[in-house]
Amino acid sequence: MRTIDWDDEKGVVELIDQTLLPADYKIVVCARVDELIDAIKRLKVRGAPALGVAGAFGVVLACKNVRNETELKAEIEKLKKARPTAINLSYGVNRALQAAMRGRTVQEMKSYALDEAKRLAEEDVAVNKKIGEYGSELLDDGDVVLTHCNAGRLACVDWGTALGVIRTAIEKGKRIEVIAGETRPLNQGSRLTVWELLQDKIPVTLITDSMGAAVMREGRVNKVLVGADRVVKEGVFNKIGTYMHAVVSKAHEIPFYVAAPLSSFDTNRSYKDVEIEERSPEELIFCGEKQIAPLDVKVYNPAFDFTPFELIEAVITEKGVIHPTNFLSKKV
Ligand code: MRU
Repeated sequence: MRTIDWDDEKGVVELIDQTLLPADYKIVVCARVDELIDAIKRLKVRGAPALGVAGAFGVVLACKNVRNETELKAEIEKLKKARPTAINLSYGVNRALQAAMRGRTVQEMKSYALDEAKRLAEEDVAVNKKIGEYGSELLDDGDVVLTHCNAGRLACVDWGTALGVIRTAIEKGKRIEVIAGETRPLNQGSRLTVWELLQDKIPVTLITDSMGAAVMREGRVNKVLVGADRVVKEGVFNKIGTYMHAVVSKAHEIPFYVAAPLSSFDTNRSYKDVEIEERSPEELIFCGEKQIAPLDVKVYNPAFDFTPFELIEAVITEKGVIHPTNFLSKKV
């Protein structure tokens, strides 16, 4: 099934529970907007484009339990705040909300929001295929590509952004191998990227995040390719650890690429004005049930970091490839 979908018969959102992968494959059903907000906060559904579609379907769910526009807008605010860094969540919510506003009754609002959410879901797949087309031109036969976090079909409705580029390149007959960093603390790399690549029989090697520099120095990597949660005036926000890989790839003259749909672009905004989500200390103190640090340790756990354009060779979008250093006037 797709990462996130709408069940017309039951009038509910269905999503693959990404917290259980790779050990268990289970579908979560969200019939109410508060259930979806909880799923977003817990990362049952995650990844910028998937969050956009979740936001849009969330507006539909919110319409179920409200009596008027004012009540709907109050629910929507909670939905938008579920995770602050990826711009796609607000983008998806705003699109569905705008469509809903054309309705005169709550029932009509829900129906317009649903049409828009379904449109966004279809668009997401089409956009990723386009990103794949443009991005695959940047990959050569025999490349070994290092990726961080999960920017695959699990982060989108289907296909993926960064992993979509790899899928398209392979479809075109290029032999591509992937090195996946595990992406501590929630291991989206080892749990999700490795899982979905193995499902597609794409060769992948798992490394710890701290091995990134060594594998580049050893000449095991030709290119680095990641997704994005938000593209701003001066660079890109993505999973914590992305910046480190960008710095190291620059030092080793390895091209660093970002694949992102235009819905992740927020280029009127400066990086200084973006809230980086800070997650709970428990994510570092425990690994599953097991305690791996003293309970009273002070923890800093930002979920994302910022990578300036000067470290990025190209940003791959559905409209083409941008070489941001061509536009750079000053260092950030
Ligand atoms: O915390 P997550 O798992 O939602 O973070 C996801 C990422 O950082 C992805 O790289 C990003 O959303 C791009 S997904 C196409």
